[in-house]
Amino acid sequence: MNSIYVETNDKRYPIYFAHDFDGLGKAVEENGLLGRKLCIISDSNVSSIYGEKVKKALEDYFESIFVYTFNAGEKSKNLNTISDFYEFFLENHIDRKTVVAALGGGVCGDMAGFAAATYLRGIKFIQIPTTLLAQVDSSVGGKVGVDFKNSKNIIGAFYQPEFVYINTQTLDTLPEREFNAGMAEVIKYGPIYSHEFTEYIVNNKKSVAQRDKHALEHIIKKCCEIKAEVVSKDEKEGGLREILNFGHTIGHAIETKMDFSLLHGECVALGMNAVFEICLKRNTVNENEYKELKELLEYFKLPLNISSIMPDEVYSQMFLDKKVKNNQLSFVLLEKYGKPFSTTQVNKDEIYSALNAVLR
Ligand SMILES: NC(=O)c1ccc[n+]([C@@H]2O[C@H](COP(=O)([O-])OP(=O)(O)OC[C@H]3O[C@@H](n4cnc5c(N)ncnc54)[C@H](O)[C@@H]3O)[C@@H](O)[C@H]2O)c1
Ligand SMILES: [Zn+2]
Repeated sequence: MNSIYVETNDKRYPIYFAHDFDGLGKAVEENGLLGRKLCIISDSNVSSIYGEKVKKALEDYFESIFVYTFNAGEKSKNLNTISDFYEFFLENHIDRKTVVAALGGGVCGDMAGFAAATYLRGIKFIQIPTTLLAQVDSSVGGKVGVDFKNSKNIIGAFYQPEFVYINTQTLDTLPEREFNAGMAEVIKYGPIYSHEFTEYIVNNKKSVAQRDKHALEHIIKKCCEIKAEVVSKDEKEGGLREILNFGHTIGHAIETKMDFSLLHGECVALGMNAVFEICLKRNTVNENEYKELKELLEYFKLPLNISSIMPDEVYSQMFLDKKVKNNQLSFVLLEKYGKPFSTTQVNKDEIYSALNAVLR
């Protein structure tokens, strides 16, 4: 099977790339999980489309299979849902030999992973991501968790899966807006890694938008390779991993100020646009590179600016982010295209001119 490996301090695990679920059983076998019990956790949308297919693909490989479905959406991403999972685990005698499978987007992966990390102090867990965002970002790297009160992902753990199985064909049923939001994270990997990757997306944007499986597999695999490389050098966010937050300092603040009415990827698009504005003023990216980014975001129907919130509101919101230390904002900027660095040395004027560029 087409695969790459993620290496962390104490674990090495594969990410498989496929266009169907036929290889799932083999993945289970290869990773020594044969004959155990399986508990599939999925959301209400994904379960109705893919639940049976995945169950069928795995029934010969597990002793028994249980499926738990929760209501789709970020609103479910809380401790009450986790508590429902635990109850289901207890009722069905889930033990240390059981494997938990997350079948769904980032919400499902983060929650199933958190439940697996904590139940019986940790049971084995596999990821079967079905959104573009989950396939290029959330299923790789081992961050799992839930929201609490109004804070996103504030409760969680680092917990790596046994493997990740990416079936790109599942993206066929993903609503367009969700797909495009995932593309914002895909596009993000260009400026932080290499212009060559951006060029590939530009040259193949039509096939990608039409969800051609080969084009999709190429970009998803590349994103996973980049994320895997970053995570293997910095599993627990000591520094390097921050580069994955390119566009996120401003993006997160907009996301919160907009009361989550915009999708995360849409806010990342706005945040990247703002950061490019700063880099352009610093002459570390040129007009062409900026234009190319904007055209790409536009092609995938991502917003370049919004008018409903004010720069002041976003500016103050940024200081409330859980990543802020010593009341200092941290930004990922570009030394040049493909060379990111993290810094707290961005002055208020620069931030405001970036905010003014996207909030109008
Ligand atoms: N752990 C990490 O490192 C990390 C990184 C980025 C984001 N996240 C988290 O990921 C979450 C967002 O993930 P998401 O964008 O995948 O959201 P999601 O899981 O809510 O999925 C988006 C929507 O698409 C539906 N869906 C999923 N797959 C589908 C398919 N194949 N066909 C049809 N519909 C489908 C879902 O039911 C849902 O309605 C957030 O909670 C965020 O905090 C985590
Ligand atoms: Zn993101």
